[in-house]
Amino acid sequence: MRDATGRLTVLISGRGSNLRAFLQAQQSGELDGEINAVISNRPQAPGLEIAREAGIATEVLDHTLFETREAFDEQLAQIVHNYSPDVVVLAGFMRILTPAFVAAFRGRLINIHPSLLPKYRGLNTHQRAIDAGEREAGATVHFVTADLDCGPGILQARVPVVAGDSAESLAARVLPVEHQLYPRAANLVLTGRAVLGHDSARLDDRVLPPGGEQWQPA
Ligand code: GAR
Repeated sequence: MRDATGRLTVLISGRGSNLRAFLQAQQSGELDGEINAVISNRPQAPGLEIAREAGIATEVLDHTLFETREAFDEQLAQIVHNYSPDVVVLAGFMRILTPAFVAAFRGRLINIHPSLLPKYRGLNTHQRAIDAGEREAGATVHFVTADLDCGPGILQARVPVVAGDSAESLAARVLPVEHQLYPRAANLVLTGRAVLGHDSARLDDRVLPPGGEQWQPA
């Protein structure tokens, strides 16, 4: 079992399978930190139940009750600050964040996106990759900057696209890889090995390519 070195606060909007992967990594001693809260912008997000069952503090901040994105993000930032996280983990948090929120947590705000960034930001990534005839898809963990679903990559894993793939079958192949990739990438940030520079990420003082360090599951 490793010693926990940091606090992680996880933001979700839905299913929470990546959250579950973090909890499993923590329980098996593979996470260099402890999850101290899970915050959802959707009151009915199934991931909230996963957090409650694990005894993790939960918060709901319903974005539909706010008139502006700015007002929601200001309140969200306050809640996140209350937990003093070393790393803020966006795990299927399907909201565009304001520049003010992103700036407040710069260098410790990370996201996972199911594509080989910088390709296919935004929605329907798997279908768009299939339609474009890509032979590889995958997932990328990146530092969040003001760009949607982009920002300097930390760790990236490739998954083959196979003949006859649908968006669903490809997503089902990528998701378990996300679950291995994300806690690993978070560890790199928690331990200070991966840091955000001006416009790129560094790993052990090496400047990383835009998609981050390549990693393949065993
Ligand atoms: C994951 O596939 C994640 O990569 C994606 O949402 C899903 C959340 O699933 N995130 C994005 O598309 C971000 N733009 P989960 O709730 O089961 O972790």
